[in-house]
Amino acid sequence: MTTVPKVELVGTGRCTPEKILTNADFERMVDTSDQWIQERTGIRERRISSDEETLAYMSKVACSQVLEAVRLQPTDVDAIVMATASPDRLLPSTACDLQAQLGAVNAAAFDVAAGCSGYLYALSVAEGMVVAGTAENILVVGGERLSRIADYTDRGTCILFGDGVGATLVRPSEKGKRGILSRYLKSDGTLGELLYRPGGGGIHPPDEQLLQDRSYYIKMAGREVFKSAVLKMAEACDMALDLAGLTGDDVDVLIPHQANIRIIEGTAKHAGIPREKVYVNIDRYGNTSAASIPIAFDECVRSGKIKKGSLVLLVAFGGGFTWASMAVRW
Ligand code: ACO
Repeated sequence: MTTVPKVELVGTGRCTPEKILTNADFERMVDTSDQWIQERTGIRERRISSDEETLAYMSKVACSQVLEAVRLQPTDVDAIVMATASPDRLLPSTACDLQAQLGAVNAAAFDVAAGCSGYLYALSVAEGMVVAGTAENILVVGGERLSRIADYTDRGTCILFGDGVGATLVRPSEKGKRGILSRYLKSDGTLGELLYRPGGGGIHPPDEQLLQDRSYYIKMAGREVFKSAVLKMAEACDMALDLAGLTGDDVDVLIPHQANIRIIEGTAKHAGIPREKVYVNIDRYGNTSAASIPIAFDECVRSGKIKKGSLVLLVAFGGGFTWASMAVRW
């Protein structure tokens, strides 16, 4: 017996930049090879935003697709919840810039910072707002411009990251037949410095030193992050299924955060979900952090891989550390 959803996801959209950076391009920038990158990460290429493709701009494109799919106007939107670790500006939130560009004049707007798990955190916040009656139509957006905070002299991180945005609408479940069946959110801040940006905030405001030591950029202890990601993604899969009274056999599509093909394969194996049910696009986009799940979700919906009634399992792990999962009936 599964739970009755109170809140549903409807309508999807995405925007990924035009420009492609291939592994061959990286061979000319740092000491690496196409073979190493493909074997260790599964990435072939990633998208890089231009100056015009700001996070708010790309989010507007993705959200316009969502509104078109559900036949709503920007004025119908009650709230915008934006998950990002790479906002256009530190103040105001990118959600507020998006609200202005979209013309969503009736919407509350704010950002959620939870690294690669941000989209699932944002969905959960939106679900709570709908249940509380605070809002009916909520745009939930996951978007990043990681190219703006990646260190292109550090081969251990820069080859991983890409830019893009995915978005979804969240609203009350009409008949309780489709929607969010379970959600699971966790964090461990004691491990925060294994994946972080040391400088640029209140502890180390911008100065000459920041530019010299490149502490403005993402630093990552890859191997340690990898080990935690494998363990926590597995835990998160188990929890979302348990909480919804489901097993891996019930899952039609698994959308894991796209951080590394080896983490994705380990997660699917643990959950007992066969390869053909696992959605992978890391080869084309790299790691787009909070954007990876909503971009993949939109690709699955538009290609027909996710159909009406499909059971979708979403799972993520990222900086914080944070990890999260959700079982959703589409
Ligand atoms: N090209 C060639 N060699 C490289 C590269 C590169 N691009 N990067 C690292 N290496 C070298 C290292 O220097 C090291 O060399 P050494 O043995 O001589 O010291 C060797 O390759 C192995 O390095 P590892 O870091 O152990 O490599 P690993 O197999 O762990 O792969 C990777 C590195 C891809 C970063 C992996 O650890 C990983 O995917 N980690 C998890 C990333 C992740 O999940 N992040 C979470 C979300 S991100 C977010 O929240 C924004």
